[in-house]
Amino acid sequence: MRLQTLGEVSLMHIEILTLFPQMFQGLLSTSILGRAIDRKLVSVNIRNIRDYTHDKHHTVDDYPYGGGAGMILKPEPIFEAVESIKSDLCLKQEGGELPIILLTPQGRLFTQGIAEELSKYSHLVFICGRYEGVDERVPEHLVTDELSIGDYVLSGGELAAMVVVDAVVRLLPGVLGSQASSLDDSYTTGLLEYPQYTRPAVYREWPVPQVLLSGNHAQITRWRREQAIRRTLERRPELLTKANLSSEERQLVDGYR
Ligand code: 6GU
Repeated sequence: MRLQTLGEVSLMHIEILTLFPQMFQGLLSTSILGRAIDRKLVSVNIRNIRDYTHDKHHTVDDYPYGGGAGMILKPEPIFEAVESIKSDLCLKQEGGELPIILLTPQGRLFTQGIAEELSKYSHLVFICGRYEGVDERVPEHLVTDELSIGDYVLSGGELAAMVVVDAVVRLLPGVLGSQASSLDDSYTTGLLEYPQYTRPAVYREWPVPQVLLSGNHAQITRWRREQAIRRTLERRPELLTKANLSSEERQLVDGYR
């Protein structure tokens, strides 16, 4: 798809191994990520696992030893694809570890903290698994990390890889416009976001909270912080134990409770 051309070095290079390269077309051409690629802040290369087979039928999966439903991804094409990535990258890369991340429901739960960790690497490799499974020698001997995006079942790791890539790339310097900043995000502050409003000031007889029209910025800041705390308490109380609250705010929480 889009390859890094010689002389252009992005902040981060991402390789994605998948059986369904077409699924990534929209992601790479649209919105924040498409713009980041155009601006050479990040480069992404999609590789089809099937291209690393050698048999006539380009076999990527096989029946599970021991029996059972579903097909299992064979190890050879995945090992060969990753080895090919390593030999392509070592021309540009001097030292440093290369995270090789398998997307699987068995992985550790992806969080904002993991997105921040991953954003520090110059290169990332993602392997999109299938929900039926990947031969265990892949996670055992090739992969450095296994990630899941939540407790539900997807048909494959592709959507999960897109979620992780989006969350990581928007943290890279220069990717978000000067308007937006990832520093205020929910999960970065440890709180859910406060409610936002735009014009009109009254819509169907539902007014925007008066304080937001007041022009009193100290009061607005206080109101937003209070709303964020209240909302987090109502919807995600478990987040409050980790959130950075002042002793005054802790008292506020106890008051709501
Ligand atoms: Cl990473 N893969 C699949 N197949 N399902 C998932 C997932 C990953 N994360 C949550 N559900």
